[in-house]
Amino acid sequence: MEYAYCGKSGLQLPRISLGLWHNFGFTDDYDTARDMILCAFGAGVTHFDLANNYGPPPGSAESNFGRILGEHLASHRDEMVIASKAGHLMWAGPYGDGSSRKYLMASIDQSLKRTGLDYFDIFYSHRYDPNTPLEETMQALVDIVRAGKALYVGISKYPPEEARRAMRYLAERDVPCLIFQDKYSMFNRYPEEEILAVTSAFGSGFIAFSPLAQGLLTDKYLHGIPEYSRAADPAGFLKKEQVAPLLVEKVAKLNKIAAGRGQSMAGMALAWALRDERVTSLIVGARNVDQLKDNLKAQEHLTFTAEELSLIDQILDGATL
Ligand SMILES: NC(=O)c1ccc[n+]([C@@H]2O[C@H](COP(=O)([O-])OP(=O)(O)OC[C@H]3O[C@@H](n4cnc5c(N)ncnc54)[C@H](OP(=O)(O)O)[C@@H]3O)[C@@H](O)[C@H]2O)c1
Repeated sequence: MEYAYCGKSGLQLPRISLGLWHNFGFTDDYDTARDMILCAFGAGVTHFDLANNYGPPPGSAESNFGRILGEHLASHRDEMVIASKAGHLMWAGPYGDGSSRKYLMASIDQSLKRTGLDYFDIFYSHRYDPNTPLEETMQALVDIVRAGKALYVGISKYPPEEARRAMRYLAERDVPCLIFQDKYSMFNRYPEEEILAVTSAFGSGFIAFSPLAQGLLTDKYLHGIPEYSRAADPAGFLKKEQVAPLLVEKVAKLNKIAAGRGQSMAGMALAWALRDERVTSLIVGARNVDQLKDNLKAQEHLTFTAEELSLIDQILDGATL
């Protein structure tokens, strides 16, 4: 596994990290979840991305992760970078959603309890909340670090101007924003417009979520929607109608380029998302160990020729999911 320094910090992250949004809840198969975590860690994936609400039910991915850690990896805690977040709906009433100090403070305590951890390596504000003063959210992050509940902080999905304000606030209090987390893939190039320049100006790292566009940037939808897929799962976040024929046609063409490179479609999509050195790491999702192993193989061929990049741009032609 290759590691990269996260922005200007001294913390290195694996180029491929594992996310626990789907497939790690109480409704999922525990043994498979455990095998994926152990396979990832064994392959050098030291970074695991959680959030308070991952499941289903919400919170159960953290509980399962804590159990797996306790049963199999307890002696390896210092070899791991574990992240969690708060910002989306977690519990009823006015204090279980948004980005108030009240919510973040209560949520990190709950997340620590569920995972059984003494501290998170990274704690994120999961989203910008226009109804909470940005200073209130950032001060909560600063105080979380000062209280020893997290070593570093990050922000996710903030619009560029709010990201600048947040990073300035944190830097002025000597709790620099370690990392910015945003959606980035061949089918979502929005961070290229401004966010990557913002993160690099502030010395923050950038970590991409949904780098496979939730599975669309693999070969799985080339011949319809398979039974065991996120698009077929009514609880999944990828909707059937998002598997649009135009996008599938593009994936079929991209898949030919991937084959020419000796890579799977998923492998090439991940290598492509890592081509910009401002991208520290990608958080991949997986439903089983085979998918995870396929994704880890992306590292075997990370470089692209100018012709390949230009052909990929032509095929993508601004398509977004
Ligand atoms: N900050 C935020 O707001 C935010 C939002 C979303 C996600 N995230 C983080 O990012 C992580 C990754 O997001 P994601 O799960 O959407 O990422 P993704 O890597 O784009 O999609 C993962 C899904 O694609 C399919 N897949 C993965 N590898 C495959 C392969 N080699 N071949 C065929 N299919 C494959 C699987 O779905 P099937 O079920 O179809 O097999 C898998 O669950 C999350 O776990 C979470 O930690 C953060």
